[in-house]
Amino acid sequence: MRIRVLGAAAGGGFPQWNCNCRNCDGVRKGTMRAQPRTQSSICLSSDGINWVLFNASPDVLAQIKSFAPLQPGRSIRDTGIRAIVLVDGQIDHTTGLLMLREGKPLEIWCTDMVHEDLTTGNPLFGILGHYAGVNRHRLPIEAGSSFSIDGIEHLQFESVALKSKAPPYSPHRDNPHEGDNVGLRIVDRRSGRSLFYAPGLGEIEPHLEPLLKSADAVMVDGTFWTDDEMIRLGVSKKRAREIGHLPQSGPGGMIDVLEPLRAKHKVLIHINNTNPILDEDSAERAQLRAAGIEVAFDGMEIEL
Ligand code: MLT
Ligand code: MN
Ligand code: ZN
Repeated sequence: MRIRVLGAAAGGGFPQWNCNCRNCDGVRKGTMRAQPRTQSSICLSSDGINWVLFNASPDVLAQIKSFAPLQPGRSIRDTGIRAIVLVDGQIDHTTGLLMLREGKPLEIWCTDMVHEDLTTGNPLFGILGHYAGVNRHRLPIEAGSSFSIDGIEHLQFESVALKSKAPPYSPHRDNPHEGDNVGLRIVDRRSGRSLFYAPGLGEIEPHLEPLLKSADAVMVDGTFWTDDEMIRLGVSKKRAREIGHLPQSGPGGMIDVLEPLRAKHKVLIHINNTNPILDEDSAERAQLRAAGIEVAFDGMEIEL
C-alpha cells in the first residue's frame, strides 16, 4: 500500500494564523529550519488510483491541489477519493467535509459517537444533506471486527476505540464514550504488511499493544513534547493528557512506547505548532533521530 501524508500538523496548522510562539515566528520569518505543515490528514491506496482519505482537514482543498492522484482525471466531475474515514469529530478532522460538497454523496466512515456529534453539536452531516449528501458507513469498534471499503482492493481495515475525549462542542465533552476517538490498523492482504494510524492517542491501553507490536509502520500522536507545553508558553491552560494526547518526552511517553517496536517506520504525526520537534536543529529533534523516530511532513510517503 502507498501512504501519503497530506497534512502533518495538529489543529491550527504550522504556523498557526495568530501564533507568535518561537516556532511559528521562526518559520514565518525563515529564521528557523522548519517546514510549514497543514492540518491533520493522510490518504492511502493499494493501486495508486483509488484512495481512502483519513480525515477531512480545513486545508483539504490545498492538500488535493498538492497531490495529483486525488484530482479529477476521468470524467467531468471526478475524484480519486473513494471514501473518507474520520478518526474523531474534531474541527481539524471534519470541517474540510464542507469543502467537498459538490458532486456525489460522500462515502463517510465514522463511529456512532462521531456520527452523533456530527448530527448534533456540529451538525455537518445535516448541512451536507442539502448539497452532495452523506452516505454514512458505521465504523465498528467491537473487538475483532474488521471491514473493507468498496473500490479499495486488497486492504482490510480495523478500527479500535481509544481513550480520549469528545470535541469541545460535543454534548458529551465531559463524559467520554467508546468511539469518540479511534485508531486504525490497515493491512495489505497481498503482503500482510500493516499500518497502525492514531493521530490522537492519549494512553497506551492493553488492546493496542498487539497492534503496535505487529505493525510495519506506526503513525501516531505527535502533538506535544511535554504534558505542560501549552501552559508553559502561556497559550492555554490545558495539559496534553487532559485533551487526549500522550506527550513524547518523559517516562512512559511516546518515545518510550515507540523505541522498542519492530516497525520499520515510526512516525509522529498531528504535531502542534508549539512542539520543539518542528525545529529541525533542536535537541528534541536530535533525540528523536537517535531513537529512530521520524517526524511527518506534508508530502511524506511510505510504501508498505
Ligand atoms: C486536538 O486534536 O486536540 C486538536 O488539534 C484541537 C483542535 O483542533 O483545535
Ligand atoms: Mn486535532
Ligand atoms: Zn505557534
